[in-house]
This record gives sequence, structure tokens and C-alpha cells, in this order.
Amino acid sequence: MTAFTDGLMTDRSVFVAGGTSGINLGIAKRFAQLGAKVAVAGRNPEKAKAAAEAIGEGALGLSTDVRDYDATRAAMEQAADAFGPLDVVVSGAAGNFLAPALGMSANAFKTVVDIDLIGTFNVFRGCYDLLRRPGASLIAITAGQAVNATPMQAHACAAKAGINQLIRVLAMEWGPDVRVNGISPGPISGTEGMARLAPDDSTREAHYARIPLKRWGEIAEVAEAAVFLSSDSAAYISGTILDVDGGSQLGDATRNSPAKGLA
Ligand code: HXC
Ligand code: NAP
Repeated sequence: MTAFTDGLMTDRSVFVAGGTSGINLGIAKRFAQLGAKVAVAGRNPEKAKAAAEAIGEGALGLSTDVRDYDATRAAMEQAADAFGPLDVVVSGAAGNFLAPALGMSANAFKTVVDIDLIGTFNVFRGCYDLLRRPGASLIAITAGQAVNATPMQAHACAAKAGINQLIRVLAMEWGPDVRVNGISPGPISGTEGMARLAPDDSTREAHYARIPLKRWGEIAEVAEAAVFLSSDSAAYISGTILDVDGGSQLGDATRNSPAKGLA
């Protein structure tokens, strides 16, 4: 299914914040498969160690909380010391839970904004002088909730909307040396995110019907997009947010049926 050839990322150094599980770990593994030197970071040191082992020889599993600027900067310095200037930095750490706004304390709302939005600022601001310039690729992992108001998701909607604008501003300020883009995954199978947002079979099945491509995505499909955005093929792409969502951004596909429209 891939258009990329082995060795495409040879000698590039890659840091993935929040890369110790799920989609971001899939991204880290794909860069490593294509020859990159890869570091992943999350809060839990054992999970980070296991992730590095799963990625393969030479990978670094580091511990940081992206809400802590100094610790996150130190983790990225460790990666740059080991691998050389960073060619690719992915900011994917996120927190989420279903709750109505009236069911969230101020701290609950702030916690998700701090991890997702402030964390992305910390990662990108912190890595700037560790980057290979010109040429580096920064990618933030955002979500459709950034543009689609979603009940029970006030925290994540606000945080991801902020990330989308941060991507655009940094793309303007940091060009031409650095490209800054986002990936907006749709619902992705086998992830913590979907276990939290669609915990039961009936929710999942109703959900498939609304997606134009009638299925959830795979982690590997998001990873391919990250490789593309960091490849020379994307040399003129900056400030964009690439939806990898089976067309979900277009709206509810069950409304596209003429029969339903006439009913
Ligand atoms: C209401 C809740 C809550 C819930 C936590 N809180 N869960 N409020 N309903 N279900 C409140 C707590 O009571 C507390 O407020 C505040 O949130 C912080 O909680 P802590 O547990 O102290 O925070 P912390 O240990 O920092 O953990 C962060 C977390 C946790 C987000 C709450 O779930 C986490 O670590 N998540 C990481 C993994 C994850 O979420 N993966 C999915 C990402 S996917 P008080 O007032 O009591 O102090 C994703 C989905 C896809 O993002 C797309 C959508 C955008
Ligand atoms: P996941 O498996 O829970 O991954 C989250 C990662 O971030 C883990 O490595 C976690 O490790 C780390 N992390 C969480 N809080 C952190 C913090 N404060 N500091 C540092 N690291 C932290 O989630 P996922 O479902 O694969 O989602 C990955 C990304 O895709 C997120 O940005 C999410 O919003 C986005 N997304 C997911 C979906 C989906 O279908 N799953 C859809 C749209 C967008 P620790 O717990 O050890 O810290």
C-alpha cells in the first residue's frame, strides 16, 4: 500500500512527542522502517522504554511531560545530541475524556488544553534551535474537533482549534527554513482515543455509516501521511492541515442518500 521506498528517511533524525503508543508510535515506527533515527517521548518511562524496543535498535525512549517546557526541551536536546539536528518533530501528545462542559471542573478543561495546545507550543518552541535548518518538518497531530463543534468535547475542540492556528502562524514565522503542517486523523482503529470516544459496538457501527469511506482508518494510514509531509515530495507544502479521515470532514454521509433526503 505504500508509495515510499526503503531508505527514504536514512540519516534523518526524528523526535515524536507522545510517541510511546497509538498513532504516534505508529508514525515513529514507520520513520524507523524507512531508515530514520527515532526518539519517542511520553510521561511513563516504562512505556517509553517498551516503545523504543518495539521501534528497534538505536531508538530512544525518553520521559517528559509536554506541559513542562524545560523537561521537554531537555528530552529533545538528548535526541539531537544522539542523532544530530532534528529533521522531523511530531507533536502528538494528547489527553481526552468524554464530559459535558458542565461536568468539567476548570482544572479538567485546563488539563486537556495544557497537554494538547500548550504542549504543542512547548514542543515546537523548544525544538526550534535544535532543528536542521533549512529543511526541517514539524507536524502537529490535530483532529476534526478543531473545526467541528462536538458535544462532550469542549476541552479537545478548543485545544485542537488552537493547534490549527498555531500551525499556521508558525508556518508563516518560520518559513522558509522550517515547514509546519498538521495531520487531522479521523477515527482510527485500535487506539486509546477511540476506546474513549466510542467505547461500545453500537456507537462504532453507527459511526461507520456516517463516514464517506465507511470505515475507521488504520494507524499505518496516518503514518504514511506523516512520511509524505516530511519527504522531499512535500517541499512546497507548509501551513496545511492534511485530513486523513475517510472524508469525515465533509459531514455526515448518511445525509447524502437521495432516498433519505426525500423521506
Ligand atoms: C470529568 C475528568 C475526567 C472525566 C479527568 N477529569 N477525567 N473530569 N470527566 N472523565 C478531571 C479530573 O477530575 C481533574 O480535575 C482533571 O481532569 C485532571 O485530571 P488528572 O487525572 O489529575 O490529570 P492527568 O493525570 O494529567 O491526566 C490527564 C488526563 C488523562 C487527560 C485526564 O486521561 C490522560 O492522561 N490521558 C492521556 C491518554 C489519552 O487521553 N489518550 C487519548 C488521546 S486521543 P479536578 O478538578 O478533579 O482536579 C484524543 C482523541 C481523538 O485526543 C480526537 C479528539 C480531539
Ligand atoms: P494515545 O495512544 O493515548 O497516545 C497519547 C500519547 O501521548 C502517549 O504516548 C502518551 O504516553 C502521551 N502523552 C499523554 N499525555 C502526555 C503528556 N502530558 N506529556 C507527554 N506525553 C503525553 O492516543 P491516540 O489515540 O493514539 O492519539 C494520538 C494523537 O492522535 C493525539 O494527538 C490525538 O488527539 C490524535 N487523534 C487521535 C484520533 C484517534 O482516532 N485515536 C483521532 C483524531 C486525532 P503517556 O501516557 O506515557 O504520557
